[in-house]
Amino acid sequence: RRLLGTAGAAGAASLIVGGVAGATGAEAVRGKPTPLTDVGSGVVPFHGTHQSGIVQPAQAHGHLVAFDLTGGTDRRGAAALMRRWSAAAAELMAGRPPQGDDSGVALDAGPSSLTVTFGFGRTFFDRVGLTDRRPDALEPLPAFTADAIDGKRSNGDLWVQIGADDALVAFHALRLLQKEAAGSARVRWQMTGFNRTPGATAQPMTGRNLMGQIDGTNNPKPSSADFAKKIFVPDDQQGTDSWMAGGSYAVVRRIRMLLDSWDNLSLERQERVIGRRKSDGAPLSGGTETTRVDLDKMGADGALSIPGDAHIRVASPANNRGAAMLRRAFSYHDGFLDDGAPDAGLLFIAWQADPLKGFVPVQRKLDRGDGLSRFLRHEASALFAVPGGCDEGGYVGQHLLE
Ligand code: HEM
Repeated sequence: RRLLGTAGAAGAASLIVGGVAGATGAEAVRGKPTPLTDVGSGVVPFHGTHQSGIVQPAQAHGHLVAFDLTGGTDRRGAAALMRRWSAAAAELMAGRPPQGDDSGVALDAGPSSLTVTFGFGRTFFDRVGLTDRRPDALEPLPAFTADAIDGKRSNGDLWVQIGADDALVAFHALRLLQKEAAGSARVRWQMTGFNRTPGATAQPMTGRNLMGQIDGTNNPKPSSADFAKKIFVPDDQQGTDSWMAGGSYAVVRRIRMLLDSWDNLSLERQERVIGRRKSDGAPLSGGTETTRVDLDKMGADGALSIPGDAHIRVASPANNRGAAMLRRAFSYHDGFLDDGAPDAGLLFIAWQADPLKGFVPVQRKLDRGDGLSRFLRHEASALFAVPGGCDEGGYVGQHLLE
């Protein structure tokens, strides 16, 4: 973490209008600079072995945006776009609005833990004449019975995931990257999501989703020995997809929650659907949030403590031949549907080294008999190859495109 000394360090003391609590408007405009709090000063490096926005905690604000290349954009055009995007992302994530940015949207903010992550969809490879370099892992996802997929909000040649702990910083990055794409790619779909704001709870804890559950507890931990193997393509990847070394595959699903039905369930039934307590996330087999789940435990009534169709039982690696993924989601709420139901749910993003050993088998299982699926609709779907990170002076995807 780098503490930017004053808001002026981000480039525009003269624009400060917030100022010190209790200061008059005029004093505030004259700009007695206040130090950024932890939220504004959080900085995540752009360069490195892996792209950012995968292992870092999901930020308070997120944008997912897919682009399609425009007609004339060939491999060289795509390479130039990735170079421009990477340079812009590196500057933005360091809290330096790129030169020539006249929007001013983020001028007086720190980097706010901004991350920008780039991925390639299946169709990208055909567009730029690199079909022979397309990884097998980008085979289309199978159809699932609970799918109600809207093709217009699915897939895409290119994908950008933006996250930041400040909404203006997140929007600024989105807008700037869209402008950088002009003439090369146009937006295919875009979704906006959110998570709890840092500092909103007395102590940092796993976030809640819009069903009210603590969500993310049993994710693979970066500190565990096999984490990298599960989440990232090996650094020494060989063959036609050697360019994916250090990369990961992102499965993106817009999952609407049927909240009217869900909210009508008793607390006890809600907890049995998941297999964990709502209040503190502890498994129904006992203990606290972080206690190991005991799938064999029987209750005093002789029944399994964690029901046979509980989400955490059906999704667990133990029941899916070790299949694992890193879930890093944003909640979304886009108003209400005609019938009054909230258009709300989860922008579910699963990260794994191979979707056929992560999302696909687990979703197949959930689709066949998970207690939670009755309360969900998968409304959009995409799969992207997210290359490894780049060094200073390089750009994301360079090993594929150069
Ligand atoms: C665990 C909610 C969709 C895979 C959990 C937990 C909750 C939850 C509350 C328990 C806490 C935790 O360990 O994170 C949801 C909601 C979903 C959803 C609300 C949709 C809106 C999915 C999907 C998949 C999935 C689509 C994969 C295809 C998992 C896995 C676990 C889990 C692997 C950990 C199981 C274990 O304990 O080993 N989910 N989930 N979830 N979920 Fe989901």
